[in-house]
Amino acid sequence: MTVEECHKMAEEKAATTAVLLEETRVFHPPKELAENSNVMQWMKKKGFTSEREMRAWTGQHYIEFWDEMAKTYADWFEPYAQILEWKPPYARWFVGGKCNVAYNAVDRHAKGAKKDKVAYIFVPEPTDQQVRKITYLDLYKAVNKFANGLKSLGVKKGDRVSIYMPMIPETPIAMLACAKIGAIHSVVFSGFSAGGLQSRVLDAEAKVVVTTDGFYRRGKPLPLKPNVDEAVQNAPSVEKVVVVKRAGLDVPMKEGRDIWYHELVANQPDECETEKMDSEDRLFILYTSGTTGKPKGIEHVHGGYCVTPAQTTHWVFDLKDDDVWWCTADVGWITGHSYVVYGPLCLGATSILYEGAPDYPDFGRWFSIIQEHKVSVFYTAPTAIRMFMKAGEQWPQKYDLSSLRLLGSVGEPINPEAWIWYRKYFGSDRCPIMDTWWQTETGCFVVSPLPITPLKPGSPTFPLPGFNTDIYDEDANPVPPGQGGNIVNPTPWPSMLRAFYKDPERYMKEYWQMYWDIRPGVYLAGDKATRDKDGYFFIQGRIDDVLKVAGHRISNAEVESALVSHPAVAEAAVIGKPDEVKGEVIVAFVILREGVKESEDLKKELAKHVRSVLGPVAYPEIVYFVKDVPKTRSGKIMRRVIKAKALGNPVGDISALANPEAVDAIPLIK
Ligand code: WT7
Repeated sequence: MTVEECHKMAEEKAATTAVLLEETRVFHPPKELAENSNVMQWMKKKGFTSEREMRAWTGQHYIEFWDEMAKTYADWFEPYAQILEWKPPYARWFVGGKCNVAYNAVDRHAKGAKKDKVAYIFVPEPTDQQVRKITYLDLYKAVNKFANGLKSLGVKKGDRVSIYMPMIPETPIAMLACAKIGAIHSVVFSGFSAGGLQSRVLDAEAKVVVTTDGFYRRGKPLPLKPNVDEAVQNAPSVEKVVVVKRAGLDVPMKEGRDIWYHELVANQPDECETEKMDSEDRLFILYTSGTTGKPKGIEHVHGGYCVTPAQTTHWVFDLKDDDVWWCTADVGWITGHSYVVYGPLCLGATSILYEGAPDYPDFGRWFSIIQEHKVSVFYTAPTAIRMFMKAGEQWPQKYDLSSLRLLGSVGEPINPEAWIWYRKYFGSDRCPIMDTWWQTETGCFVVSPLPITPLKPGSPTFPLPGFNTDIYDEDANPVPPGQGGNIVNPTPWPSMLRAFYKDPERYMKEYWQMYWDIRPGVYLAGDKATRDKDGYFFIQGRIDDVLKVAGHRISNAEVESALVSHPAVAEAAVIGKPDEVKGEVIVAFVILREGVKESEDLKKELAKHVRSVLGPVAYPEIVYFVKDVPKTRSGKIMRRVIKAKALGNPVGDISALANPEAVDAIPLIK
């Protein structure tokens, strides 16, 4: 995207969504909870008397603030010499420090008072299988064994390891084992198919892939390993595939390449030296979707990850020693990285790790887990809340949810109705909801309430301590209340992305170019938002061509290129259609090749093809055949125009299109 295109897109979005938001309901946190909260203790110590003052001060003094947080939340092998070196667009934090996030997450607890504390309560999907409680000492030994196993396969510091696994304990164990020896993990969501996995393995040039034979979904064991076999066929970097036996499936093992996890770790010692990493050494790559079809490899580092996930979990979700934390996100996404693995473990917390579907065997499953394990802090996505809303309040009402004290939401804007329902039926009209706005790129929450913040439904409230997040117009001026603009971070933060793997140009272009000429070093998040008169943020969605389907981030271009890879398809345009439960669903407009006959069966086949190329997350709900799609003179598909026409909204000025008549042919979708 050029700067002009970027401006134009922001302008167009502003024109279509400039609704003045006025949410007048305010929900105050229970007094006792606010008074005893972790953030309040810190405020008292520092002499802050108001939240606003504290947020403002920590923003202004962000370097000093993050220095204190780094010393509070992380242990360092060697102290850093400099807090921040900021040469936009590159930041280095805690320069010269030596640390390892696996040490902070596991070693120090296993060697201290928390060694017998439960780190994970693993709940398998099949109800007849035993819940497994894994203590910090258990975790320590398991991580060490697998770290030694990886070493025995020749994995060294800086090597990439792809992890393609369901929600089982071996997934965090594999991530931590990589971190421990300084290898870089690249977790690929197990809902991606062979194609999605392959592009990520190829880009990362992974030496080892860790996977399972299969996994349980809605009571059935489904195979996973065959996807790996297909994906690594043409991936010359892959030397070994390690397979965890999870579903008891009979899978082919390739001689010399494939090894069973249990055999690999069987004779490994349960001690392993923790690599002393530089603060800026890479911890992981996580691929996410951007404007183009090629997923971008977001790089995160050890130093930042030792600090912000733990600090934000502690401040926003107020974790105390006896809390039971449940973040329902899959470890395959950033939420799982920061808030199932690194944040809670660095704090020495107890977390639920649930393997399966929220509605298996019925809609009561999540509630039964909350009841049985006395979950006290619960963090999920709006799409799940809306699914339960649809299923009905009889489900939460059947269970005792009184252990809950705080709730959270993430992934997409939460509509006020869902917010109120969540508060009422999960939270007994008592639990505050932490609506956390952040991204794969930010590594931790950025705009979010604290347990002391008066809440407005549908608002993630204010920038967190240490952030100067703002909403800019195109001239880099903060927008007045009620007006839409771009979310930006004008100052760096410790867990910010450091780069795109092997693609520095794109890093510059996607995040920093927009305001570079006016003020270098302003991070463009890619979301639009407004603020109300009280300064509350309201998120209005992406400014780029990125879809949010059930909270999953998918680029329109990715789905289009999957469609075009089918022999019947000449061209395709993909848009998101608003959906009551999933937020958005995928709608595809397909131009068939000469001579190919249109049919309902072909529509089904194309949808299935996308599923097999990218995975179920990218499944198009509706496919239309069209003769043409509107394009710019330079040949760019105008998805915005297609979307407006398809949804029955004004299409705006289309005089600049190469083929304005194509707009008429776009059908109205139901
Ligand atoms: C995009 C990032 C980081 C968590 C999981 C998603 C949207 C995220 C919220 C929220 C409104 C939100 C934004 C953002 N988003 N949280 N609380 N309210 N929108 O990570 O896949 O990197 O997606 O998710 O559009 O840019 P991700």
